[in-house]
Amino acid sequence: MSHPRRYYIETYGCQMNVADAELMSGVLRREGHERVDDAALADVVIVNTCAIRDHAEQRVIGRIGQLNRHKLARADVRLGVAGCVAKELGRELLELAHVDFVVGPDGYRHLPEVLERVDEGERVVHDRFNRSENYEDLEPYRIDRCAAWITIMRGCDKFCSYCIVPFTRGREKCRSPESILAEVRGAVDGGAKEVTLLGQNVNSYRSGELDFPDLLAAVARVEGLRRVRFTTSHPWDFSQRLVDVIAEHPVICDHVHLPVQSGSDRILAAMRREHTIAWYRERIAMLREAIPECALSTDIIVGYPGETEEDFQATWDLMAEVRYNSAYVFIYSPRPHTPAASIVEDQIPHAIAVDRLERLNQLQRDIGTSYLLDKVGTTQGVLVQGAARRGAGRLSGWTEQRETVVIDGVASLIGEILPVRITGLSGITLHGEVEARVPRRAARFDLPVLAG
Ligand code: 5AD
Ligand code: SF4
Repeated sequence: MSHPRRYYIETYGCQMNVADAELMSGVLRREGHERVDDAALADVVIVNTCAIRDHAEQRVIGRIGQLNRHKLARADVRLGVAGCVAKELGRELLELAHVDFVVGPDGYRHLPEVLERVDEGERVVHDRFNRSENYEDLEPYRIDRCAAWITIMRGCDKFCSYCIVPFTRGREKCRSPESILAEVRGAVDGGAKEVTLLGQNVNSYRSGELDFPDLLAAVARVEGLRRVRFTTSHPWDFSQRLVDVIAEHPVICDHVHLPVQSGSDRILAAMRREHTIAWYRERIAMLREAIPECALSTDIIVGYPGETEEDFQATWDLMAEVRYNSAYVFIYSPRPHTPAASIVEDQIPHAIAVDRLERLNQLQRDIGTSYLLDKVGTTQGVLVQGAARRGAGRLSGWTEQRETVVIDGVASLIGEILPVRITGLSGITLHGEVEARVPRRAARFDLPVLAG
């Protein structure tokens, strides 16, 4: 075992990476190392990276350069790269002279040996895929006690034409339901009110006869758990049974993230998305039929090679029709290894892609604002998460639909689900007051009747 050290992990990208940081933290703490929040105080600095778009990758590479200053200040500081860029670039990262070790998404268990080898003077690259690595037996170390990320499957088999994920995270592998349920129970025992089941493509989860709707229902039955979320779903694997399970279990949040990527069948086919717009509309109709209030969010890519103004208009129309409560719009970025990266013709000029991005963002801002304004005057269950970023003494939390709400309150309320009357909106932040009287659906809140 290497001597106890202070480590700092800086995470970029998706929630899978956030969960992986907790996993790395668990591995390092088990060895006696101690987590710190400031790179300047750390002996081991790990940059947990995202490779989904070129911009994300450039940003983390820049950041690795900046973090080198800690090594210059103290020669015994170790600098490592984890996550998707670690897998994508592997050994090439050692060309950044200051990097001591590179660990891909399947290598986190080996961090202690990696650190030891670095101590012996080696520069270590551990970027191999491991088909059987699911980290089932490792306990993540969570900072946030009230909401837990739980990775149920890793990797992706879909191979959408633009996406680097199957190359950085490998093929799909699902954890056993027993280990997932044990982790959920453990998180609840540790104080979690909410869990989010994570995977690149959660709804293609399968373990023997058990599929994702079965797993979700089993998680929803865990005693003491108040909210269950899951992300990300692929429209192809989104079934009526899944909708039925969401509808049947009040603890499953009425909020589904269902990336569509484009509103044009022609572009969806070019993207190898496996679904058409008619199929996607049907999924939404199924969901809204069973759960009319269900909030929907999505991901969209603009500027995919060959995207005409007409294709773009179809995306705009779909967005206006579905009325997502939030949407993440990205400009297409060619990525290494992906089939789309070798397309040479029909590239969309950057200025046109930016214009399309802005038009969709404007539409979404309008829809999102009217959706949030509709919440003013209603009572929402709010999971109080911590101190608000702005406004001393204020707390912030989120609704079932994951909207941020700021309230006045004392720190002892952190971790509770409270009935909050929404009083206003600033930007995309709701403001509210804890209800003095518990409304009819009291069982969904923690708060006993307050004075008044
Ligand atoms: N370029 C732009 N956006 C991408 N995404 C995935 N790959 C790319 C790419 N090459 C987006 C998709 C996906 C989200 C996580 O990132 O919209 O759903
Ligand atoms: Fe990438 Fe497509 Fe898999 Fe999502 S479903 S991770 S976009 S390959």
